[in-house]
Amino acid sequence: MKSLISSLLTAALLLTQHLTASAQTDTDTLANSPPSPPQKWTYRKWNGSNYACKCYAGDACWPNTSQWSQLNSTVGGNLRVTTPPGAPCYNTFQGPLGNVSTYNAAQCTSVTAGFPSEQFQIDLPIAGLWSYFTNDTCRPTTSRTDTCTLGHYPVLVIMAKTTGHIQAGINFARDNNLRLIIRNTGHDFLGRSVGWGALVINTHSFQDAITALNKAHALTPPKIMITGECATVGVAGGLPQGGGHGPWTTLKGFLADTALEFEVITADGQLLTTNANTNSDLFWALRGGGPAAFAVIVSASYKTFDDVPSTGTTLNINTAHTTNSTLFWQAFTAFHGYSNYFTEKGLYVYYEVGTTSLHVQPFLAIGKNVAQLQAILKPLFDDLDAMGLMYDTTTKTYSTYYDLYFDMFEGEMAGNSALTGGWTMGKADVANNNAGIVSALRNAANNGAILVGHMWNAGQGVPASEWNNTSVNPKLRQVSEKIITVVIVSGNAPLSMKAAAQQKLTYVVDAGLRAAAPNGAAYINEADPHQPNWQQAFWGTNYPALLKLRQKWDPAGVFYAVSTPGTENWEQIEWETRLCKKVQ
Ligand SMILES: Cc1cc2nc3c(=O)[nH]c(=O)nc-3n(C[C@H](O)[C@H](O)[C@H](O)COP(=O)(O)OP(=O)(O)OC[C@H]3O[C@@H](n4cnc5c(N)ncnc54)[C@H](O)[C@@H]3O)c2cc1C
Ligand SMILES: *[C@@H]1O[C@H](CO)[C@@H](O)[C@H](O)[C@H]1NC(C)=O
Ligand SMILES: *[C@@H]1O[C@H](CO)[C@@H](O)[C@H](O)[C@H]1NC(C)=O
Ligand SMILES: *[C@@H]1O[C@H](CO)[C@@H](O)[C@H](O)[C@H]1NC(C)=O
Ligand SMILES: *[C@@H]1O[C@H](CO)[C@@H](O)[C@H](O)[C@H]1NC(C)=O
Ligand SMILES: *[C@@H]1O[C@H](CO)[C@@H](O)[C@H](O)[C@H]1NC(C)=O
Ligand SMILES: *[C@@H]1O[C@H](CO)[C@@H](O)[C@H](O)[C@H]1NC(C)=O
Ligand SMILES: *[C@@H]1O[C@H](CO)[C@@H](O)[C@H](O)[C@H]1NC(C)=O
Ligand SMILES: *[C@@H]1O[C@H](CO)[C@@H](O)[C@H](O)[C@H]1NC(C)=O
Repeated sequence: MKSLISSLLTAALLLTQHLTASAQTDTDTLANSPPSPPQKWTYRKWNGSNYACKCYAGDACWPNTSQWSQLNSTVGGNLRVTTPPGAPCYNTFQGPLGNVSTYNAAQCTSVTAGFPSEQFQIDLPIAGLWSYFTNDTCRPTTSRTDTCTLGHYPVLVIMAKTTGHIQAGINFARDNNLRLIIRNTGHDFLGRSVGWGALVINTHSFQDAITALNKAHALTPPKIMITGECATVGVAGGLPQGGGHGPWTTLKGFLADTALEFEVITADGQLLTTNANTNSDLFWALRGGGPAAFAVIVSASYKTFDDVPSTGTTLNINTAHTTNSTLFWQAFTAFHGYSNYFTEKGLYVYYEVGTTSLHVQPFLAIGKNVAQLQAILKPLFDDLDAMGLMYDTTTKTYSTYYDLYFDMFEGEMAGNSALTGGWTMGKADVANNNAGIVSALRNAANNGAILVGHMWNAGQGVPASEWNNTSVNPKLRQVSEKIITVVIVSGNAPLSMKAAAQQKLTYVVDAGLRAAAPNGAAYINEADPHQPNWQQAFWGTNYPALLKLRQKWDPAGVFYAVSTPGTENWEQIEWETRLCKKVQ
């Protein structure tokens, strides 16, 4: 059954907002850019190389007031000059378009309270949930005379309400060579939903991730669809474009595997339908080829599945149970050694591990009862008991997965600053080198990294003949675990400290995991933006085809997100600010 998920658009709206051919540009010209036209680029030298850069406030090519106000009327008055979320706590916001008085006691109180809340951040026009990539500028404060600047936030935002607004934003950004950011929920771990000096198109009014699951649940009989483990990740934005794993992945694959159709707007401003028969090459690229790289999704249709009774178990081992770290890591080694076994039995397992604590919530068994889950977990608990180890565990069963999801999965925080990275563990790696993987994780934890594990297998629920129907790296079908690595660092720390944190993430923490699990790969949505050899790590054998499709569908680089196909020559020069293309 086909169920239209996540889009608040009606079919009528889609039709009436279709733009005319006037929005199209000459793709042959674009293919040779830059420069095209020359006055739309600013040329800069950086670190010994020449760059052609997008247009920013203060550059001669930045649009004038009348051009902006014309855009504003095209988008129904939904264009806004942005201020950082914390600006109401400061007397003055010193922005690129001038100084603005921003202090507002009531708004300051509300943003201070809301800043750590995921939903509060999601609903803001431009915020990123991981503040590192905003440069951590202008955080809520009680010192109103401190300086509030733009940091790496965008300059203007279109709060898009219709596909026509999105088309107008894409056309304006392309014609004026502006840095363009598509911003949905702001969950992005790699900083891809913020960008210095950019124009943002905020698509959030088009969808609601919580509604997506609720919408499927409201069908008769109730259905489920694949979502992330976190209910607030958008289901029609970055998630399917990166692949999208979740609690059902062991049973049904990635969200991208379940996509039936995307309605999109391309870099030339056209509204297109993409599915297995129409624009099928673009449809393939959108199913795992990387967010903000090929087109903007405005509506998505996914397969749904019958909901079923489900059971979850939690496990905690921490200093309340043992302070013997040898024993603790022995227990973790036993737990981790079962990754292949758990996923073969159909489980999904979500956990966090640090130097002295393991928190598993939950071991998830969809379609299984308490006795069945306990039988699957028995070997693990026998091992723990044999070690003479204490632990806490609880098991709960529910009449639907939907009920379990909202009860057992824990909420997430926002407003924290950190770098994230990660790697997946091949089934062969777990089978041959569990001790090596555990030792790499232990070393990462000892280096201060926070580690979040997700055991799933995206290959066993999807026939191998269909793995390549999406552009997700085929290697991700043969892993049994995804680890997210988190290195805490403030976005306004001295540049040398930020560089050291990046170095630690890439060359200590993640390097250890890569070496221990050579059969793994990297997952584009939960990864180090500076992942070495990223083309292979993210897409493997699918990369050459994705590169060709990027050249076909976005030859000029209207869209940009770090480490997505075709961005080899693009860089954010001048300390992660100006987006530029290297030229000879
Ligand atoms: C708390 C938390 C839990 C997570 N859990 C999971 C999980 O279980 N499984 C998983 O796979 N991932 C998970 N993720 C990672 C998630 O997949 C990415 O953060 C994803 O990019 C979020 O997409 P978004 O559209 O919600 O967010 P945004 O940050 O708004 O956008 C992310 C990227 O997609 C682009 N984009 C957004 N909307 C569109 C659109 N309509 N068209 C084109 N491009 C668009 C943006 O430009 C940006 O590059 C989690 C992240 C967080 C913070
Ligand atoms: C400058 O270029 C060199 C050589 O390519 C590179 O190693 C270095 O990281 C670059 N520095 C910056 C700040 O980009
Ligand atoms: C703004 O720019 C447009 C396009 O270059 C130009 O036609 C127009 O005259 C300019 N308007 C002002 C007020 O400078
Ligand atoms: C766009 O128009 C609306 C409605 O007239 C106005 O409130 C808003 O300030 C304008 N935006 C900009 C950037 O001028
Ligand atoms: C903005 O305010 C700062 C601090 O008072 C001042 O240094 C700067 O010159 C002002 N900028 C503009 C454009 O007025
Ligand atoms: C970003 O933060 C660094 C400190 O970490 C600072 O040196 C730099 O000036 C900031 N850049 C912007 C654009 O705010
Ligand atoms: C810690 O646990 C290990 C492994 O079980 C054991 O060999 C060792 O004796 C324990 N150390 C202490 C101090 O109890
Ligand atoms: C997927 O396609 C790649 C080439 O693009 C090929 O190497 C791989 O074997 C294919 N995998 C499957 C399962 O068909
Ligand atoms: C997967 O792709 C193959 C080859 O293009 C096609 O024949 C098949 O119908 C596709 N399967 C699905 C479920 O889309």
